[in-house]
Amino acid sequence: MAKTSVSFFCQNCGAVTRRWQGRCEACGEWNTIVEEAAASGIGAQAAQGARKGRVFDLSRLGDAERPAPPRITTGLAELDRVTGGGFVPGSALLLGGEPGIGKSTLLIQACAALAAKRRRVVYISGEEAVDQVRLRAARLGLSGAPVELAAETSVEDIVATLSRGERPSLVVIDSIQTMWTSLIESTPGTVSQVRGAAQALIRFAKTSGAAVILVGHVTKDGQIAGPRVVEHMVDAVLSFEGDNGRGLRLLRGVKNRFGPTDEIGVFEMTGQGLQEVANPSSLFLSARDEAAPGAAVFAGMEGSRPLLIEFQALVAPSPLGTPRRAVVGWDASRLAMIVAVLETHAGVKLSQYDIYLSVAGGLRVGEPAADLAAAAALVSSLSTIALPADAVYFGEIALSGAIRPVAHAGARLKEAAKLGFRSATAPQAAGERDGAVRDLDLRPLRHISGLAADIGAKPPRRAADGRPPPSAARGLREA
Ligand code: TYD
Ligand code: MG
Repeated sequence: MAKTSVSFFCQNCGAVTRRWQGRCEACGEWNTIVEEAAASGIGAQAAQGARKGRVFDLSRLGDAERPAPPRITTGLAELDRVTGGGFVPGSALLLGGEPGIGKSTLLIQACAALAAKRRRVVYISGEEAVDQVRLRAARLGLSGAPVELAAETSVEDIVATLSRGERPSLVVIDSIQTMWTSLIESTPGTVSQVRGAAQALIRFAKTSGAAVILVGHVTKDGQIAGPRVVEHMVDAVLSFEGDNGRGLRLLRGVKNRFGPTDEIGVFEMTGQGLQEVANPSSLFLSARDEAAPGAAVFAGMEGSRPLLIEFQALVAPSPLGTPRRAVVGWDASRLAMIVAVLETHAGVKLSQYDIYLSVAGGLRVGEPAADLAAAAALVSSLSTIALPADAVYFGEIALSGAIRPVAHAGARLKEAAKLGFRSATAPQAAGERDGAVRDLDLRPLRHISGLAADIGAKPPRRAADGRPPPSAARGLREA
């Protein structure tokens, strides 16, 4: 007998509880638990034992395989890079991001670019009327693009319509939270509906061979189910993030079954839609105040691409017993570690100072290679000595104070040289095997105790390695 029971679902992570709770125990979000009808819809019949299993054929891992169909490239280089070289036919991709960040704009641009290559592209909007989508496209100068449009929310109707005629190369569903399937009783936007609708659309992708993109709004208030409830069902998850003040938009791979996840695409939101930023380093450096102490340029990597990013530090005497440490764009515990290493191994006393560290351009840096740039920014701010405007820094700092080599040193140095930088303070091994960085003055650093001297600040009286400090060095204020 079909039994419809009631369960409580977290709208953020999809966790199920027996009772209503103020806070989800699985993800820690507040007010996200909502009552929904369960045990109906897809998969529910199996539990009722109504159907005998169908026998299917098994194949072998080593069986001669059909060549994989070519990827669907949109021609938007930044988007194609993040997907790992284009959309995979028959796959489902989730594009998540906050409302208003530009997901619809990005996808209508991608659809238009693909349709211009004579591919069948269908854009289903569950949020905007067809005329609104047309108006946006007109504003973007894409009115002539042969993209097929519909404003629909019933998944069954959408799948039935798409299954007719030529198989589409790309189907965009904007957004998954507005879709509903008649197999499930809950209202659209709830966890069960989002899951059920996503399941049906993903099945359509697998059986038809079309690439399906699901748009998912990320919300904090739990009014609608977050994209996290479908993340594990799709083949790839991209996240669209931004720094609203500057119109900068970053497309980031979060999960990808067919490619790397550490790539980023950089766009700028303009009056004519999203423009690709082919040389992001210049963008992240453009607003530099060159003479300011506390700014250090980090030669970083985002996926396979070198990227120069500015680290800004402010070190100020603290009126508090426990000084403030505030970090934006970097890991706070990493900062604590660098501060401890500077204190212990380089004699840089920071315990009486408030420390603010920020990564310019709204970027989030996760690389350990940024340690040296952060340390240089801190020492520069403390000593009020501005770093040379044409210097870059990279290297991982070990707890012993040693500067460890990092991957892609050659690519980092080349990017710095290309953008007109003249010196690089880097781990010992960097650039040794690479002759392509002749224009760059390489300043190898083996231990953090040498950083103050490199910057021109006076190192402490006794360096960790016991050697006397060079007399030419200028004064580093000691706390
Ligand atoms: P949209 O793509 O609708 O966001 P999402 O689908 O993620 O909710 O983007 C809407 C925002 O983008 C809106 O605030 C206006 C801005 N925008 C521009 O600045 N320029 C443009 O050409 C377009 C189309 C939108
Ligand atoms: Mg939208």
